[in-house]
Amino acid sequence: MNIGGTPYRTLWELPGADAIEVIDQRVLPHRFTTTVLRTADEVAAAIRDMTVRGAPLIGAAGGYGVYLAARAAADECIDTTITQAAKMLAAARPTAVNLGWAIGFVCHRVQTATSPDDKRKAALAAARQIVADELDRSRRIGEHGLFLIREVAARKGAVNVLTHCNAGWLACIDYGTATAPVYAAHAEGIPIHVWVDETRPRNQGAALTAYELGEHGVPHTVIADNAGGHLMQRGLVDLVIVGADRVAANGDTANKIGTYLKALAAHDTGVPFYVALPSSTIDHTLPDGCGIPIEERSPDEVRWIDGLGTHGPERILLVPAQSPARNPAFDVTPARLITGFITEDGIFPASDLKQNKNKING
Ligand code: MRU
Repeated sequence: MNIGGTPYRTLWELPGADAIEVIDQRVLPHRFTTTVLRTADEVAAAIRDMTVRGAPLIGAAGGYGVYLAARAAADECIDTTITQAAKMLAAARPTAVNLGWAIGFVCHRVQTATSPDDKRKAALAAARQIVADELDRSRRIGEHGLFLIREVAARKGAVNVLTHCNAGWLACIDYGTATAPVYAAHAEGIPIHVWVDETRPRNQGAALTAYELGEHGVPHTVIADNAGGHLMQRGLVDLVIVGADRVAANGDTANKIGTYLKALAAHDTGVPFYVALPSSTIDHTLPDGCGIPIEERSPDEVRWIDGLGTHGPERILLVPAQSPARNPAFDVTPARLITGFITEDGIFPASDLKQNKNKING
């Protein structure tokens, strides 16, 4: 996707695969900077502090974290170094299953190699494969989701999509998940407009989704999180499309806090509610959403807000200094509220997600 007219991805290798470089998402939208991650520790810290964020991207970064651990390990302790690094990386954020999945994928590939050098090569090849596969999955999610947008456009011309958080290309390698169909529709010339939930407390919608849509020239409007239900009641939303951090086998979906309320409003107003996800986000070990671990982040993310003041970046205290806050970072939307899942293989109702059958889009 484009930034200032230049195509970017969210993560890339430095020459010689000595390190990876990523876009620092903590300082967007007011500053575009990148940062180099040279070790597994640095990758874990970047995932924890949300320099990199979004389920597919933290998976890809985690995969490279295992490789960087293997790269730095002494031959005689390469296996234990990799195991320890994998454990540390997997603990960096608990909700998005992509992280553990990607780390497991790289570790499994390493186990099939015998010599230390072959293990390093296997880890690098596996990390590269995750990036290539996520890229392809996002592109295909866009192609399938386009079907839904074309359908609305054929009926009523302009299409209004509402999205929550950032399930855009910044959360993936490119294209995004929830935004991939939007970009595909925009490329096809369909008049499309996106309602962007600000997504308190970290404001991924206001800071990141608005930024990437704007850089790519897609019409959009930022709204307060509380405005979505009202817009749906007034007929101003044709489709809700959100991303996912972990989808249980029955379709219960963990995504950014606030997603559940949007699903309830969509259900009440008859607006179709879709979840866009790559298969790397499905947790087949969980029968339903009850077992999905929900990350609790620092209360200070609720109490303080970051922005651009007249003299540069500023942090403002929003609440009385003594007031405590609580910050669950995700919620679980029950499958019964979800119209369908836009995956790389097609669009499925929750009942058929696991088997990939009864595609909605042919
Ligand atoms: O806490 P974040 O910013 O990592 O949460 C991101 C989300 O909840 C996204 O909607 C989700 O990861 C889908 S990303 C394609």
